[in-house]
Amino acid sequence: MTQDREPVFRIFLLVCLMALIVGTITQICEESEFQVCMSKNNLTHVPKNLPPTTKSLDISQNHISELQISDISFLSGLNILKLSYNRIQRLDLRVFKFNQDLEHLDLSHNQLQKMSCYPVVSLKHLDLSFNDFDVLPICMEFGNLTQLSFLGLSAVKFQQLDLLPIAHLNLNYLLLVLGDSYVEENVRENLQILTTETLHLVFHPNSFFSVQANISINTLGCLQLSNIKLNDGNCQVFVEFLLGLTRGPTLLNLTLNHMETPWTCLVRIFKYLWPRPVEYLNIYHLTIDEKVEDVQFIYPNTTLKSLKLEHITKRVFLFSQTVLYRVFSEMNIMMLTISDSPLVHMLCPNAPSTFTFLNFSQNVFTDSVFDSCSTLVKLQTLILQKNSLKNLFKVSLMTKNMTSLEILDVSWNSLGSDAHREDCTWIKSIVVLNLSSNTLTDSVFRCLPPKVKVLDLHNNRITNIPKDVTALESLQELNVAFNSLADLPGCGTFRSLSALIIDHNSISHPTTDFFQSCQEMRSVKAGNNPFQCTCELREFIKNMDQVSREVVWDWPDSYKCHYPESHKGILLKDFHVSPLSCNKTLLIITIVTTVLVLAASVTFLCCYFDLPWYVRMMCQWTQTRRRARNVPLEELQRNLQFHAFISYSGHDSAWVKNELLPNLEKENLQICLHERNFIPGKSIVENIITCIEKSYKSIFVLSPNFIQSEWCHYELYFAHHKLFHGGSDNLILILLKPIPENNIPRNYHKLRALMAQRTYLEWPTEKSKHGLFWANIRAAFNIKLTLVTDNDEVKL
Ligand SMILES: *[C@@H]1O[C@H](CO)[C@@H](O)[C@H](O)[C@H]1NC(C)=O
Ligand SMILES: *[C@@H]1O[C@H](CO)[C@@H](O)[C@H](O)[C@H]1NC(C)=O
Ligand SMILES: *[C@@H]1O[C@H](CO)[C@@H](O)[C@H](O)[C@H]1NC(C)=O
Ligand SMILES: *[C@@H]1O[C@H](CO)[C@@H](O)[C@H](O)[C@H]1NC(C)=O
Ligand SMILES: *[C@@H]1O[C@H](CO)[C@@H](O)[C@H](O)[C@H]1NC(C)=O
Ligand SMILES: *[C@@H]1O[C@H](CO)[C@@H](O)[C@H](O)[C@H]1NC(C)=O
Ligand SMILES: *[C@@H]1O[C@H](CO)[C@@H](O)[C@H](O)[C@H]1NC(C)=O
Ligand SMILES: *[C@@H]1O[C@H](CO)[C@@H](O)[C@H](O)[C@H]1NC(C)=O
Repeated sequence: MTQDREPVFRIFLLVCLMALIVGTITQICEESEFQVCMSKNNLTHVPKNLPPTTKSLDISQNHISELQISDISFLSGLNILKLSYNRIQRLDLRVFKFNQDLEHLDLSHNQLQKMSCYPVVSLKHLDLSFNDFDVLPICMEFGNLTQLSFLGLSAVKFQQLDLLPIAHLNLNYLLLVLGDSYVEENVRENLQILTTETLHLVFHPNSFFSVQANISINTLGCLQLSNIKLNDGNCQVFVEFLLGLTRGPTLLNLTLNHMETPWTCLVRIFKYLWPRPVEYLNIYHLTIDEKVEDVQFIYPNTTLKSLKLEHITKRVFLFSQTVLYRVFSEMNIMMLTISDSPLVHMLCPNAPSTFTFLNFSQNVFTDSVFDSCSTLVKLQTLILQKNSLKNLFKVSLMTKNMTSLEILDVSWNSLGSDAHREDCTWIKSIVVLNLSSNTLTDSVFRCLPPKVKVLDLHNNRITNIPKDVTALESLQELNVAFNSLADLPGCGTFRSLSALIIDHNSISHPTTDFFQSCQEMRSVKAGNNPFQCTCELREFIKNMDQVSREVVWDWPDSYKCHYPESHKGILLKDFHVSPLSCNKTLLIITIVTTVLVLAASVTFLCCYFDLPWYVRMMCQWTQTRRRARNVPLEELQRNLQFHAFISYSGHDSAWVKNELLPNLEKENLQICLHERNFIPGKSIVENIITCIEKSYKSIFVLSPNFIQSEWCHYELYFAHHKLFHGGSDNLILILLKPIPENNIPRNYHKLRALMAQRTYLEWPTEKSKHGLFWANIRAAFNIKLTLVTDNDEVKL
């Protein structure tokens, strides 16, 4: 029988849901060409300058007290008009005469007392609830609103006959807000004709329930009653009221909102509803007052599937807890939710129970709940979120005989890990375990159900996942976000792991072999960790970049450098560092190679090109040039006849004549040679002195032969002498052939000193070096010099 009703139930559920959605969607207003949002604008009148194209107009929550035909008649396309929470007292529906498309009219929460009727046939949603009507504002014209699907009405006085004009309408949702006085009618007529899928009755919040109508409604799927104040006196009235409404076979969903009742009356209501065709019973904001008495009660067979009690307040304090808990624990239904209530405990059912789903979130249950309970044999889902559980071992013990338990949620408790033990006795059937938002530490991994597939441990105090824990072979999803983990876990112990959430931890250098270790990984979230952007991170970044976005679904935006300070805030994907500065071996190899190459090339240059010789020559060249620049020209020019005087041993004359002279004279230099320019009649010494004195420079061709020649030594002496007296360096020493130092006679002090200073130019044997040699010689003469004899300016 229940199976036949399933599709019907679905449709009703959809209707209930749609009613809810319509309620929420219409809250959202987005300004556009067709939509005007002027809610909460302190308006006292409907604005005049509305665009005529307006289709939706929201002027709710203002101070409007009047609605005139001229206000809206020009809005011919108007579809939706929201006027709730204003101050309108009178309304003539004729004002909508020209709004042929008006479908949604919300006039709830105004001060309407009177309404003139006019059939606005296009209306689908008409809300006149929460107004000051004395009797229900239903006119005969309402009977012609055939498209109407939602109707909200309110009245201080209620007579069920008032509903007659709308009895034949096919409504989806009928909202009746009733005042505190109910006018009893003589004719207790049954209104079978009223047809709606959802009926929501709102009673007066401050008066005790007293409506004695015998309303029966066709096709009623959802019934919602709000503000039910009961006491011992009117409990029967309410039960009888329900009797009429719940008679139909289609009612599936009964919601009682803001109910205040003595415990005994609540149990009576249960007792009454149990055999009814209701499947879902929700009670929100339940206040239990007066004493809790023991009511003997055996639940009859029922179609009820689910009972939900949310937000219970107790106005009684001294009572036998057992009496209260027993009523719930012995229920023969599948789903029970008792949440946001001051319940401290729940009893273990006496006999094998029908519960498959228990939701006791937001109570104050302690560890002793369901202690050694083995009657919850069908229980698949147990939710103990936001309670006062402290001991994980005891929680595991609780599950020991819940042989069908698959989902356990003990998040938001005070579970610590002090008492974690290896001998936790989880039932093996658990596949989803939610331990989030507790104070668990690393040892939690020693106390976990062995077959768990989904494990939520986020927001705990885990610093490390121990390597030696028993393998959780089935674990597929692990959430360890908001802990203090320092690294990504390997998948050694979690072989099937395919989803890992590990964001907001303390991971600074994640292991790089994570993806190698976790082959099954399909989804990773590891952002918002304090990553240290150093060399070690490169491999990790590379891996993350390679893995597809669908796997790492918070990459790259949540991955930022935390350290070093210079990189703080930079996205990991933008962090680049050269491979060289990261690889120490590579760095050392590079440095060593560079040094070796340098050394080799220097050596090569020295050996092959005689680099030291070049260096020396270059030095002299620069020195000569500098010196030449410093010498005042006039002083030099005084009585010079020659550019240079050449002193050499007769044995070297061949080189002088063939090499030196041609090269010097090519440059237009006047040379004084003793063979050529010596004046006969003068002594040799006189000749040498004259020659030296009349020359700008003295060139000495040094060689072992030179040392042997006495004359040469004289010449050197004079030249050197002139050098010191003249104050300028006029000496050019050319070392034609190497002279071993000990070959220089001891008394040749000058020569030794000059040799020691190495201020000579070496004649290179390699032809390729001759160019530089001559350049050096030329540099010594690099000067504008006017010679006395020639009177020609010799430009060098
Ligand atoms: C409406 O008036 C109240 C009080 O007079 C003021 O606080 C609020 O800002 C006003 N709202 C607008 C939209 O003018
Ligand atoms: C309203 O409905 C009645 C019958 O219920 C009908 O006689 C009447 O013509 C309708 N009026 C309009 C305006 O449709
Ligand atoms: C309500 O009406 C039904 C008939 O539809 C009748 O059986 C029932 O007794 C009435 N209830 C009361 C309280 O009069
Ligand atoms: C029953 O009706 C209430 C109120 O309309 C709604 O909140 C709830 O979702 C519906 N369905 C169930 C299964 O409770
Ligand atoms: C309740 O249902 C069970 C089987 O589901 C059946 O054995 C029992 O007779 C029913 N009891 C009543 C009072 O109908
Ligand atoms: C358990 O009840 C709480 C409070 O009513 C609710 O928020 C939560 O969604 C429920 N959990 C499940 C799984 O239905
Ligand atoms: C709980 O189950 C164990 C087997 O797992 C069984 O030995 C024990 O008797 C059960 N306890 C109760 C109270 O039934
Ligand atoms: C665990 O519970 C928390 C709330 O307490 C919830 O946000 C989270 O989604 C749950 N985890 C799983 C895997 O259901």
